[in-house]
Amino acid sequence: MRASEIRELLQLRRPTLDRELRRIERCLNVGDLRRLARRRLPRAVFDYVDGGADEEISLRENRAAFQAWRFVPNSARDVSSVELSTELFGRRIAAPLALCPTGYTRMMHPEGELAVARAASSHHLPYALSTVGTTSVEELATSGHDNLWFQLYVLRDRGQCRALLERAAASGFSVLEVAIDTAVSGRRERDVRNGLTIPPALSLQTLGDIAIHVTYWRSMLGAPALRFASVDDLSGVGADTVTAANMANLFDPSVDFDDLAEIRGWWKGPMLLKGPVSPEDAKRAVAIGFDGIHLSNHGGRQLDRSLPTAEMIHPLRQALGEDAVIVVDSGIRHGADITTAVALGADAAAIGRPYLYGLAAGGERGVDRALSILTEQLRRTMQLLGVVSIDELREGGVGLLRNSEAGGTLGV
Ligand SMILES: Cc1cc2nc3c(=O)[nH]c(=O)nc-3n(C[C@H](O)[C@H](O)[C@H](O)COP(=O)(O)O)c2cc1C
Repeated sequence: MRASEIRELLQLRRPTLDRELRRIERCLNVGDLRRLARRRLPRAVFDYVDGGADEEISLRENRAAFQAWRFVPNSARDVSSVELSTELFGRRIAAPLALCPTGYTRMMHPEGELAVARAASSHHLPYALSTVGTTSVEELATSGHDNLWFQLYVLRDRGQCRALLERAAASGFSVLEVAIDTAVSGRRERDVRNGLTIPPALSLQTLGDIAIHVTYWRSMLGAPALRFASVDDLSGVGADTVTAANMANLFDPSVDFDDLAEIRGWWKGPMLLKGPVSPEDAKRAVAIGFDGIHLSNHGGRQLDRSLPTAEMIHPLRQALGEDAVIVVDSGIRHGADITTAVALGADAAAIGRPYLYGLAAGGERGVDRALSILTEQLRRTMQLLGVVSIDELREGGVGLLRNSEAGGTLGV
């Protein structure tokens, strides 16, 4: 063996000196990243990410509904090469997976949305910035990601609302999703019990926490103050700046289909309606020019006891036909869930908490790990299922599935 070969071999075996990276690489699934995030974050911050509304029925059922599906594999197929990439809004993406908008993202890690965008970009997956993001539309555009979406909470002041969309379009955001599931904020009892303040404030409780979560507090205290970067200077909240406490004054709880039709006219690119949209309302949205639905119950954080999205994909696809886009989130934690979502009729699955756990666990590298885990699980699931492309998965459709729950919506 030549010396260079020996060196190469030794290098391969040399354990990485970066302890943080090693911890992240030891995470084999989203549950592992969640556990790491739980250790890293103060309890109130972890619960803010992890928790759901009221009795957390939807939070639990979202997961159970995806897990209830069983696969009926194609036998004896050549699966030596599998293509995960697919087209969404005329763009090639590396897998049928998108990253959802989440507010206060810099509370999980000081690099926040920029770290998420960089990881999403390197995986060639779309990422949606929230109206209440802690990085502005202009700042996020500097990430270099060329497939950014923007999520809108409709502002009461329509002039301000339109101006915000113009800023997003000018910054290169290509797809708009209008969230209609947040007329009022869901009641997350964990946050109330923990006395969560946004940003986390130095109280007696948090002072005690500093000793336990030194790294978190050091990074937060050294970072620029958290702010709702795209909207914090807007007027209309009755104060100088927009804060978590007065933010609700900014948003319009009276939005109806006429308003949605007006907003459709302001945005030139593709548009999705985001929420637990019924097949009837989905048809109305498409009739006024929406390109599709981002089917979501906000990860169980808004209307508790809303139907799990896994049960709504197939009826929605049947109502809308083949042309409308369906993106689905709420409870996706494994590549097998993405496989199931596509077989049920979704164009793509989307994730919120999985990448936030990764972000909290290790910044951009943690998000990168979450995306690698999910896409590798998707690849393996498809190989074992005997399908070699996303198109083939779509064609196989519900024929590749059985619902293990008696009375599952499809009854197949
Ligand atoms: C911490 C957190 C903050 C969120 N903030 C927003 C938001 O600002 N806008 C929005 O449309 N959805 C928001 N969502 C919902 C996500 O976009 C997405 O629908 C949900 O997280 C998907 O469920 P999952 O977390 O089970 O993947 C948030 C979710 C979480 C967990």
